[in-house]
Amino acid sequence: MTSLDRSTSLDRTLAEDLDRFRAEGVYKRLNHLESPQAARVKMEGRGEVIILSSNNYLGLSNEPAVVAAGRGALDRYGAGTASVRFICGTFDVHRDLETACARLVGTEASLSFVSCWNANEATPATLLTEQDIVISDQLNHASIIDGIRLAKAITRCQTAVYRHSDLDHLVELLRAASDRRVRMVMTDGIFSMEGSIAKLPALAAICREHDAVLVVDDSHATGVLGANGRGTAEYFGMVGEIDIITSTLGKALGGAAGGFVAGSAAVCDYLTQRARPQLFSNALPPTVAASALASIEFLEAHPERVTTLRENAAYFREQLLGLGFKPLAGETPIIPVILGETAAAIRMSEMLLEEGVFVTGFGFPVVPQGSARVRCQISAAHTRADLDEALRAFRAVGTRLGLI
Ligand SMILES: Cc1ncc(COP(=O)(O)O)c(C=O)c1O
Repeated sequence: MTSLDRSTSLDRTLAEDLDRFRAEGVYKRLNHLESPQAARVKMEGRGEVIILSSNNYLGLSNEPAVVAAGRGALDRYGAGTASVRFICGTFDVHRDLETACARLVGTEASLSFVSCWNANEATPATLLTEQDIVISDQLNHASIIDGIRLAKAITRCQTAVYRHSDLDHLVELLRAASDRRVRMVMTDGIFSMEGSIAKLPALAAICREHDAVLVVDDSHATGVLGANGRGTAEYFGMVGEIDIITSTLGKALGGAAGGFVAGSAAVCDYLTQRARPQLFSNALPPTVAASALASIEFLEAHPERVTTLRENAAYFREQLLGLGFKPLAGETPIIPVILGETAAAIRMSEMLLEEGVFVTGFGFPVVPQGSARVRCQISAAHTRADLDEALRAFRAVGTRLGLI
C-alpha cells in the first residue's frame, strides 16, 4: 500500500473544507504563467494576458542586467549555500547585497533573510523580551501579525494593536506601556490591501516622545515611494530617521525572493547572533542575492523608472475614476476597487481574465468581511497601450456587472 491508496481523517476533513470553499465561491485557482513576469505574460490555457496584479513595480523581474547577474552568480557560486550562514553559508555577494540594502533605505546596516516574512518573524521575536511590548497597526501584513504572535509565544513580551492609523489610540497604548523596558511599534509603510501610506512623520514623532522603537515594513514602498524609490522615509523626507526598516526583495527589487532588516549595526549584529531563521535556515541562494543586488544598482542608476511608475499609477487611477469606478483614494500603484462580497470580487476578477486582464480579487479573511475588492497593481513596465487595453476590459466588465 502506498500513501496514495489511503486517505486519512485529516485528508477527509480538508476535502470537506475545500468543497465548502468551492461552494462559497472563495476557492483560489492558481494560474500558471509560461513566460517571465512582465506587463504582458503568457498564461497557461489562455495565451497572452495583461498583468495588473504583480508586485513587479519597476519591471525588473525580467530586466536583462538583473537576469544576467543571477546567471553570473550561478556560474560563480553554484546553486546554493548548502549551510546556514554562521557555519559556512555566507558568500561575499550576501555582504555586498546587505551594504546596498542599507545604502538604499538609509540605515547603518542591513541583514538579508530568505523572505521578508522571515525578517518580520525574526525582528520582534529576537529583539524583545518578557519586559517589553510590541504595538501593531490593525491592518499590518500577516507576516507582522504572525511575527508578533511568535514573539509573544517565545519571549512572553506584551502585545497590543492600535486601530488602523489611529495615532491617538497608539499614544494611549504607549502611555499604558510606560513601564516596559522596550516599546516597539510596527507598521506597514504602504498598506498592501488599501494602497495607503502610513503617517510616518507623526508616527516617528510619537515614537520619539514615548521612547519607542519604530519598525516600518516597506515591502510595497521600496523601489516605489520617493523620487529615487528609497521608500516611505524618502517620500516624507525622512531618510535616516527610521529606527528599523524591513522590506522584501520579492517585489520591486527583482521579484525573486528574499527580504532584509535594515537598522543600526547593533540591531543587525544582534539578529546575526540570535535570530532563529538566521541560525537554523540557509541563506538566500547566491543567484537570488546577485539579482537583488543588480536590481538595487539598476534602481540607483535609473530613478526615472520610479517616475514612470508614479505617472502610470496616476493615469490608471484617473481613467478608472473617469469610467465611473470608485477606487480607494491614494497615490500609490496599488489601486483597490471595493466590491463588498468575496464572491463578487472573485467573479469580477474572473470576468476580467476572460477579457485578457489578470487582476486578483481579495475577500475575507485577507480583507475585512464586506470589503472584498479587486486590487490593481500598476508597473513601470506597463505601456499606455497596456493600460488603455486594461481600462477597456474594466469598462466592459463594469458595465455588464452594473458597477458603472
Ligand atoms: C507588507 C508585506 N510584508 C511582508 C511580505 C512578505 O514578503 P516576502 O514575500 O518577502 O516574504 C509581504 C508580501 O506579500 C508584504 O506585502
